Amino acid sequence: MRVGILTGGGDCPGLNAVVRAAVLAGTQRHGMSFVGFLDGWRGVLDGDVVPLDEERVRPLLAVGGTVLGSSRTNPLAGGVEQGVQRVRERLAALGVDALLVIGGEDTLGVATALHEAGVPVVGAPKTIDDDLSATDATFGFDTAVQTAVEACDRLVTTGASHHRAMVVEVMGRHAGWIALHTGMAAGAHVTLLPEEVVDLDAVADVVRAVLARGGAPLLVVSEGAPVLGQQAVKDAPVDAFGHVQLGGAGEQLERELQRRVPGLSSRVTVLGHLLRGGTPSAADRVLATRFGLSAVEALAAGRLGTMAALRGVDVVQVPLAEATGVLRTVPEARRAETAGLRW
Ligand code: F6P
Repeated sequence: MRVGILTGGGDCPGLNAVVRAAVLAGTQRHGMSFVGFLDGWRGVLDGDVVPLDEERVRPLLAVGGTVLGSSRTNPLAGGVEQGVQRVRERLAALGVDALLVIGGEDTLGVATALHEAGVPVVGAPKTIDDDLSATDATFGFDTAVQTAVEACDRLVTTGASHHRAMVVEVMGRHAGWIALHTGMAAGAHVTLLPEEVVDLDAVADVVRAVLARGGAPLLVVSEGAPVLGQQAVKDAPVDAFGHVQLGGAGEQLERELQRRVPGLSSRVTVLGHLLRGGTPSAADRVLATRFGLSAVEALAAGRLGTMAALRGVDVVQVPLAEATGVLRTVPEARRAETAGLRW
């Protein structure tokens, strides 16, 4: 079996570890051969492929980003039927028997449509946002949170020196998992999530209280938090999957605090794409490797239209369609754990 691998959507630490595990296991255990499509679905549409063999992938375990490149190209944007047909023709022309698609809700949504049209495909989930409901975890999240916490630990010391409120904006479009875990691990006094209404007066009260006891407030805000009642959108066009570019939540929060707390000294740091870059943590390398191994076993067993997923401590294969169902947002119970506490 000749397998084409692609990585689509926003990159995240661990993508290369999936590719490495899939190629090594597929070659050694099942006699498969592999090619990589460059830049996600763009590479499929353009027939842009590179060979992937054991020698090429062996050094990739700890390499951040994706050596295959990524894009937000949507092959179905001009219509599902034509899109599917084009993909089918490309795969046939290149002698590719099946696809291993590594992506988030958008990329796997395309994979689901292809599977429904009879194209042999399996998937592996990725996103630093950790918001896919079909899996208990996605690789990339652990690394992103670790990076954010290290940044906060540094910001806390300079904030304390200057008796300053430090606002830290982290990624998280629809789900606040990165903000929630960063806030908890960094000891933030305030954590704002996309899932919650923001009470700016209450936030200002916390800031005043922390300053009054000689502390330096740390506020972690998700880019998707509705600071002014709705998400802060950058003046940018929507991508091929209809997403707007977010940005500005941290600045909005700082501005509102300045209004409410006279004489406040404050600074904003937007961590943004720092959270997507760099070498994956050990936990992410393990999860990514297990997803790669599982996806190859699914291909070998003919369990097409499935996706590797973590359930508890086990990696299982679930229907691809589940990946693109409901987003896994932060539930009320997790938010209630820390509600009302003064850190
Ligand atoms: O979906 C992952 C994510 O990191 C989001 O948190 C963020 O909004 C988005 O990607 C930004 O992606 P880009 O700037 O690459 O379009």
